[in-house]
Amino acid sequence: MLSRLKTTLGLAEALDKKSVLASLLSSEVLQRSTMFIAQHHKCSGLRRSAMFVDRPSYIPLLTERSNQMHGGYKHLAPPEQEPPPQMKTIFCARLLAGIVALSLLMGCNVRLPGQPTEIERWRAPADVSDFNELYTENCAGCHGIGGKLGAARPLNDPLYLSFVPDDALRQVISQGSSGTNMPAFSQQAGGGLTDRQIELLISGLRAAWSKPEDLGTQIPGYTASGSGGAVSGASAYQTYCAQCHGSNGAGGSAGSIVDPNFLNLVSDQGLRTTVVVGRSDLGKPDWRSNVAGHRMSPQEIDAVVDWLASQRQTSSAVAERIK
Ligand code: HEC
Ligand code: HEC
Repeated sequence: MLSRLKTTLGLAEALDKKSVLASLLSSEVLQRSTMFIAQHHKCSGLRRSAMFVDRPSYIPLLTERSNQMHGGYKHLAPPEQEPPPQMKTIFCARLLAGIVALSLLMGCNVRLPGQPTEIERWRAPADVSDFNELYTENCAGCHGIGGKLGAARPLNDPLYLSFVPDDALRQVISQGSSGTNMPAFSQQAGGGLTDRQIELLISGLRAAWSKPEDLGTQIPGYTASGSGGAVSGASAYQTYCAQCHGSNGAGGSAGSIVDPNFLNLVSDQGLRTTVVVGRSDLGKPDWRSNVAGHRMSPQEIDAVVDWLASQRQTSSAVAERIK
């Protein structure tokens, strides 16, 4: 699929066919964030193309990804700690300038999420105490503004906010989620946010987007209860998932969920969150509605997540495969 994508992108670029590129980039496959990043890994043309068709919301993420590949996630450093300019940095700066120019040209005056200007870098970041500013600068690049075009799950989802306890929010925002693109934000963990700012983000998320609603049932626990053992994950998969993801997970109407490019960039908790809460932005049902009138039991949720996680291959096997 990758080589097909590459060829098509190359062709579209060569022909200067903006519309072809635009539709490619908004295709379901590419909107599936983690897959998008994984594909970018092998297909650097995507970054250029995202810019070309004015989809700047992808860029911060792609930039993070390439930062990661070149020595770990880099939080904004104060100017005196800034690494010496290198080709890559210069390229990124040019790229960003290009995007800003492009969005101005197109009359859309959107600030690039997660990309403060040079002047803003000088402002003591620890002084920022406005939720919108904190969210836009640190989170929106991946989690989207208003739940749109985010590369990671939207956080403005009331169901998700009912599911996730404050402790878990604090943990993942402070420490990140290892093995995935979710960076650690606490200063102790090398990030750029104070504990107070992390608390402001948590209360701000809830104030802005929580909505008490009657779910008609108790929402399953955020973490696995460990009760799945007796239930077969493979058969729970057949009951609740196969109609959309195919009989072995490799894809039906909703695409593959056993692709190693995807599974190796998502944590078990990330899988669990998706199974319970769904992705309303992508038309993916939550635990109540995979099969009409037949919600998943806590045991079935545990078991299906275990089954899915067990499809993950080791990174060396993946490295072999994607060579
Ligand atoms: C570079 C991209 C990136 C940035 C920036 C980012 N996130 Fe994330 N975030 C992710 C990804 C990818 C995941 C899924 C990780 C996984 O699979 O567990 C995630 C997961 C999360 C989760 C856990 C979701 C769950 O399953 O419960 C929370 C909460 C979260 N992010 C909040 C934030 C907040 C708040 C910020 C800003 C301070 C932020 N993120 C910034 C990429 C990002
Ligand atoms: C009614 C159809 C439907 C059913 C049933 C369904 N899914 Fe999905 N699923 C989707 C759609 C649509 C997407 C989004 C595909 C895309 O990326 O555009 C999706 C995406 C996913 C993703 C990837 C989310 C991401 O972050 O990109 C996972 C993991 C997943 N499904 C797991 C499951 C599991 C496990 C089950 C069974 C418990 C299940 N799905 C049942 C439709 C379904």
